Amino acid sequence: MLNNAPIGIYDSGMGGLSIHRAVRQLLPRESLIYLGDGKHCPYGSRSREEVARLADEAVGHLVSLGCKLVVVACNTATAAAIEALRAKYAPMPIVGMEPAIKPACLQTKSRVVGVLATERSLDGELFRRTAARYGADIEVLTAAGRGFVELVEEGREASVEAVECVGAVLRPMLERGADQIVLGCTHYPFLLGAMQRAAEGYAVNFIDPSAAVARRVGQLLEVNNLACDPAHEATEEFVTFADEAYREALEAKAHL
Ligand code: DGL
Repeated sequence: MLNNAPIGIYDSGMGGLSIHRAVRQLLPRESLIYLGDGKHCPYGSRSREEVARLADEAVGHLVSLGCKLVVVACNTATAAAIEALRAKYAPMPIVGMEPAIKPACLQTKSRVVGVLATERSLDGELFRRTAARYGADIEVLTAAGRGFVELVEEGREASVEAVECVGAVLRPMLERGADQIVLGCTHYPFLLGAMQRAAEGYAVNFIDPSAAVARRVGQLLEVNNLACDPAHEATEEFVTFADEAYREALEAKAHL
């Protein structure tokens, strides 16, 4: 059975657009609704309970707009709420973000990997479990990307200030020998250029999980018989809990 309903993609703000881009590339026929909360961004230093409540509101909103599958394109919201969301909105499939520690541990030669994420993600159970599972004999260094989300939300990701801000967080990892750095927040792929500049002279690979998340969306559509008609004309919508200017900024950033 074919299903032309939209896929919902949600984040605290603009970060989930890195996932939106990957889903659009892989599944160009699917209609998408992107919800960037905007009103409560950043989530990274809010309490787990508050993030869980905000995530529930957001997913509920996407369900009310008729979505057939939702991607929680936010590591922080995934860490705080994915199980509760899956239980509440079953049988609708919900894809969450898992820190890409597994590929980092498989690829490292120096046996040192770095993970960048928000404070709230790093102190969560999901992170601890994933790190313990794949990083047993590997040194896993973590750091909160303080200020990173704001740089992306304010469109300052290509500034000198961005290179300095990410450099200050990356340097200790690089000096310790990390050769793989996991981007554990969906805002961070927008800072890849700044990170590469800050890491000049070091042999390091940054792991952006967006393409893998898009593949997971494709698999779940197949398994659940939710894929759209191959002749379906995709539509694209951007919604927010903030104001119209923010909604327009989301749309503009999605088409950069
Ligand atoms: N983009 C989000 C994440 O992946 C949240 C960033 C924030 O709002 O602090 O964690």
